[in-house]
Amino acid sequence: MTIETLPEVVNSPFDPWDESHRSDPKPFYKAMRESAPVYAGIGPVTRRRFWFLTRYHDVVDALRNPELGREWKKLPEEVREQHHFEEQDEFELVNRHLLNLDPPDHTRLRRLVSHAFTSRRIAELEPRIRDLTDRLLDDLADGDDLIEKLALPVPITVIAELLGVPIDDQALFRDMVDRSLRGSTDEEMMAAGLELLAYVNEAIEYRRAKPGDDLLSALIHLEEDGDTLDHSELLSMVQLLLIAGHETTVNLIGNGMIELMRHPGQQRQLAGDPELLGSAIEEMLRFNGPVETPFPRFAYETIEMGGERIPQGDVVIPVLMAANNDPEQFDQPERFDIRREPNRHVAFGNGIHYCLGAPLARLEARIAIGSLLDRHPEISMAVNDDELRWNSGFFLRGVRQLPVSI
Ligand code: HEM
Repeated sequence: MTIETLPEVVNSPFDPWDESHRSDPKPFYKAMRESAPVYAGIGPVTRRRFWFLTRYHDVVDALRNPELGREWKKLPEEVREQHHFEEQDEFELVNRHLLNLDPPDHTRLRRLVSHAFTSRRIAELEPRIRDLTDRLLDDLADGDDLIEKLALPVPITVIAELLGVPIDDQALFRDMVDRSLRGSTDEEMMAAGLELLAYVNEAIEYRRAKPGDDLLSALIHLEEDGDTLDHSELLSMVQLLLIAGHETTVNLIGNGMIELMRHPGQQRQLAGDPELLGSAIEEMLRFNGPVETPFPRFAYETIEMGGERIPQGDVVIPVLMAANNDPEQFDQPERFDIRREPNRHVAFGNGIHYCLGAPLARLEARIAIGSLLDRHPEISMAVNDDELRWNSGFFLRGVRQLPVSI
């Protein structure tokens, strides 16, 4: 039987690629979890078979399973051909990063990078983030777009600071990153990506000669038992920080504020008691987190999950958003509760790829949302809920614009 003619796919009642779920994918995932918790669909472009996991325990098991990995090149050639995996070499130089590697390469890189990405380095950023947030809030006017005025500039400026991009270059840097991740056409994004690559290359040469106290210098000069990052690993790491640490944090601030404004009673409580910020941010991550699905995993062997046989070479998508709303794990998951406890969500993933930037993301969100509520406790949406335009696709979840009344 070929992939396309599998009966469960042909007769499937679910289409994860259907854009009509985008404004609220939860009912869709709920239905899937209840009737087909390990569900196969055929990708419309790649024609590959994708398995969607929507139960909390299956998602955690998948993220911890070494037979589900990130390196499709490890699959036997005939399986790769059958599944239409093709070499993509344009960005080969920046692809050797943590999220694309399994052990032992992942273990080696993660250990090295952890020496540079320390909690001290993150904690030292706090006054800078407060300062930046205050300046951005000085500039926020009634009717403004909260994404443009706050959620977007905070994370990118923080990454620029972390990497040691000089103040004079930061506007240029932000513009390149923005165009490479949010450009209006593929060509624009590709061109901006190449510009950025050239900039980072130059910055690496500069910091090699003149080390500073920044993360880039630390990454360049890392050494453990004679081991260091090579040039491609360095470039890939910077690229990953930009991709993994930018849009995600924008959307934590954006989606988090949307949920608060949708629940004015909880917003009032939080504005009156900033001690609740820690648990409130965990609930924002659980309830409507920025990463709906992580990077896809490839089945290196045929495996069994929830009574289904997942053949070698198939793609597995553990749906974080569905896991975070599974009633087997969370009491009344459909309730947004800023005091929820316990709250063992998987918004930052699980297993070996657990988000390296989680402490930084939490810090940025705490400062941005805490300071915003401090100044504007009654902030509300300046558009109707159904006017919000959610991103397309099921990877990153967020809105492009969020006009607010203050
Ligand atoms: C709210 C914001 C964020 C969310 C929701 C988030 C979520 C995630 C998730 C779900 C993963 C695992 C992906 C997978 O298993 O395929 C991940 C990995 C990662 N994240 Fe984050 N992230 C956030 C912010 C950041 C920030 C600010 C940084 C750094 C500046 C960062 C750096 C990374 C890195 C380096 C990895 C790869 C770790 C590895 O493969 O070992 N993230 N993140």
